[in-house]
Amino acid sequence: MPVRALWFDSGRLHLIDQRALPGRLRVVRLRTLPETADAIRTMTVRGAPAIGVAAAYGMALGAAQGSVSPARAARLLRSTRPTAHDLFVGVETVRRAWAAGQDPLEAAHRYREQVVGECHAIGEAGASLFARDPKVLTHCNAGALATVEWGTALAPLRVAHERGSKLFVWVDETRPLLQGSRLTAWELAQERIPYAVIVDNAAGHFMRTGEVDAVIVGADRIAANGDFANKVGTYEKAVVARENGVPFYVAAPWSTFDPRRESGGHIPVEERGADEVLSFSRSRVAPKSSKARNPAFDVTPARFVTGFVTPAGVVTPRRIRSLLARRAEAPRVAATGASARRKPTRPPKRRI
Ligand code: MRU
Repeated sequence: MPVRALWFDSGRLHLIDQRALPGRLRVVRLRTLPETADAIRTMTVRGAPAIGVAAAYGMALGAAQGSVSPARAARLLRSTRPTAHDLFVGVETVRRAWAAGQDPLEAAHRYREQVVGECHAIGEAGASLFARDPKVLTHCNAGALATVEWGTALAPLRVAHERGSKLFVWVDETRPLLQGSRLTAWELAQERIPYAVIVDNAAGHFMRTGEVDAVIVGADRIAANGDFANKVGTYEKAVVARENGVPFYVAAPWSTFDPRRESGGHIPVEERGADEVLSFSRSRVAPKSSKARNPAFDVTPARFVTGFVTPAGVVTPRRIRSLLARRAEAPRVAATGASARRKPTRPPKRRI
């Protein structure tokens, strides 16, 4: 069975509890807007597109409650996590429908379908990059758990694997919350895609020794100039990839692109609690008196990106601005990917 991170049934939002994996496959059922906001804040559901869809359903649950306005519901959900642009798109999509007297639940369903469709399109668009049995490194979890179905970074790998590529995945464990070793490894195991978990600090070693042919990651927000935020540690991977001539791809649906942020310096970076750094599996890993900083994301400049894998194809960072402008002019055509004329991406230094 393909992994699905969340679904709506019998008036409740069902979520795979991502904090419990890989030990337990537990489903939580949410009935209210505050419960949904809490699930996003505590990372019961996480990953940019998935929290966007969860927030869309949170709006619908708020509407069903009857005691909250669209604006107030939107404010609560927007306050949960600041970096993923998808969250704001999911909230705004349903807020508009609700404020216009349309059915918020229908709007949330449509939003989920759109995200799932775009992730599928990303898989198709990027699969040929990984056709020749490459060793691919990924950071954090950008699979179905992070996107509802398919994934962003994992979607092209899944499609390439289905089509016979003997690809292999290096999975960064992704400290402090281990989205790589807990979630990406779990998803790859379900799909029977060969992989090995490595500590975050080993990625440079494997790139230098020629054991990584490409890197692919997801994103939480992509600015108009192609700078992007993703899980902390992504920036280092991108710099080391460039140093070693390894192509570096970023996969994302349209909801992750934020044309109103001119560059990465304008992207808000979430800083989470020090306890996530100072403890590991409920044991302290630093003296009691230690302080810590815990940025959940970092920003990678566009110049390190070989190509963005979008629902409309693989595009270079330079083409992002014009692509987004064209989508803004003709959103319906662009949303289907039908207008996408692709130029080949800047050729990676190392062929895969
Ligand atoms: O803090 P998280 O686990 O929500 O961060 C998720 C990531 O950084 C993912 O790489 C990103 O959302 C891409 S999702 C397909």
